[in-house]
Amino acid sequence: MAKVEFMPVGRRGTCSEETSLLECARLLDVDLVGLCGGIGVCRRCRVQVVAGAVSEPTEEDQGAFAEGELGQGHRLACMTYPRGDVRVHVPPESLSAPQRTQVEGLEVQVQPDPLARAFEVRMTPPSLGRPVPDDRNLWDALRRDHGLAMGTIDLAVQQVLSTRLRELGFEAGVVVREGEVIAVDAPATRWIGLAVDIGTTKIAVYLVDMQSGAIAASAGLMNPQISYGEDIVSRIHHAGESAENAAKMQALLVDALNGSVASLCAEIGADPAHIVDAVLVANTAVHHLFLRLPVRQLGLVPYVPGIGGAEDFKAREIGLKTAPGAWVHMLPNIAGYVGADHVAMLLATGVSGREGVTLAIDIGTNTEICLNCSGRMKSVSCASGPAFEGAQIRFGMRAAAGAIEHVRLDGERPEIQTIGGGSPVGICGSGLLDAVAQMLQGGVIDATGRMLDHPLVRRRDGVREFILAERPGQEDITLSQKDIRALQAAKTAIRLGIQALVEDAGIKDEDIDRVIIAGAFGTFIDVESAIAIGMLPELPLGRFEQVGNAAGTGARLALVSREKRREALAIAELDGYLELARIPDFNEKFAAATPMGAPVS
Ligand code: FES
Repeated sequence: MAKVEFMPVGRRGTCSEETSLLECARLLDVDLVGLCGGIGVCRRCRVQVVAGAVSEPTEEDQGAFAEGELGQGHRLACMTYPRGDVRVHVPPESLSAPQRTQVEGLEVQVQPDPLARAFEVRMTPPSLGRPVPDDRNLWDALRRDHGLAMGTIDLAVQQVLSTRLRELGFEAGVVVREGEVIAVDAPATRWIGLAVDIGTTKIAVYLVDMQSGAIAASAGLMNPQISYGEDIVSRIHHAGESAENAAKMQALLVDALNGSVASLCAEIGADPAHIVDAVLVANTAVHHLFLRLPVRQLGLVPYVPGIGGAEDFKAREIGLKTAPGAWVHMLPNIAGYVGADHVAMLLATGVSGREGVTLAIDIGTNTEICLNCSGRMKSVSCASGPAFEGAQIRFGMRAAAGAIEHVRLDGERPEIQTIGGGSPVGICGSGLLDAVAQMLQGGVIDATGRMLDHPLVRRRDGVREFILAERPGQEDITLSQKDIRALQAAKTAIRLGIQALVEDAGIKDEDIDRVIIAGAFGTFIDVESAIAIGMLPELPLGRFEQVGNAAGTGARLALVSREKRREALAIAELDGYLELARIPDFNEKFAAATPMGAPVS
């Protein structure tokens, strides 16, 4: 066993010499990025071994670092194994936290009408003259005071009922869900609901006051499954390899949720045992991984979900720490790559009920787009890839402190703005989008995306690179032709998805009355830049609306409103799915959508 110390995070522990530094980091809770799942491709797990011996550099290491860098201990953590005690420096760009997550979304008012309803009861204690069993006594009080018909009592509640009622002097707060008593505690208990949007990259968690429907606390966190691959296909592959892998990935998610819920409850002085209902939304693959459903079919033609319908199950069945009798509701999935999070987004933005033509886009590693053309709704899913998350970009990073998020090219050198305002560390998706749009408009690249000769373009090892930020004493932050191509592929996928929907509806871009851009990334992009590179249709800016995390809002609505749950089911039924791969002249269309800013024919 080797002692391994990660700096500057200050985590240390022992790992076997058969354990890669990436795996070791995971075991020690160091949030080291492992976008490709540890196969040496993404080059995002860069570390520097500052003391001790490690395995020889692999081919992947040699591809990622210059000779001199290798000599200084720079390595890919996933390719490196300790050979004795080591100290490892993890640079900020290789850490997945802290980072900007997105929990703010639309404020949609809805009259609370939850499935789990709270009642106060005052029961007559049993006596020799009235030796009524406690369950009957409780139902008698619920019928007498609230007109409820007798139902069932969750077994976990039964197991504490007699003791608790006596502690409370037979006065209690009771939560009933569809005829089942799911929680009993003191009168005036503040019962809470839990709404969660589990994204491929980020998770938004909300505690909701069940009485008022208001958010009591919220937090954003990273999806810990990222260490098994940034893209969902890597994760499907990993989970599909063994039941053990699938169990591990599910446990990671559940632990992360329990941890977040515990800290949010502490923040508002609440008890997780008072969480009586939960609504979770996710894309289809994450939904399946969370429920430990088979995922292999999601990666195979025709990419169908194992479960498409809405799900209801006890929170304890998957290890969520809530009230023992609490239920979890998961909204329905539409297709293999259009999941419950898309349904939640449509629910929150009211797309199905809008007049005219509305386009709703949730941009992410996978981008889902819905077009409602006068009541006819269709959705597509586009593999936009992880470029927006900074992956596959040489200086790419997530939207964390130090990431370049906006770029302007007015004068001699680019003006950059970083998250947090400090020195630049790398570039995140919105910065990349801006930079490429500015490069296009400034004549640094042409409409095909090719980098041209320009005062800000230099050659290194014969390869052109655009200097984005000079960093004396450190490597300059640059963009290469490959980086531009990665962004171009992402924008093309989205543009093609929009185009497919528009053509299918028999309309033109200019017929679109409103474009709703949802999701964390979509919140921070510059719409003009997205139009400039041809990712979004060229429409007046007034038609675009950036709404933040709408999927999280949809989950909250379904949590507090039975009507909204029904509406979500109707949306999933109504929404037709358009499979891009079935478009006959797909390749020609892809080629036509590729140029930067050019109209798609
Ligand atoms: S290269 Fe190490 S995780 Fe991708």
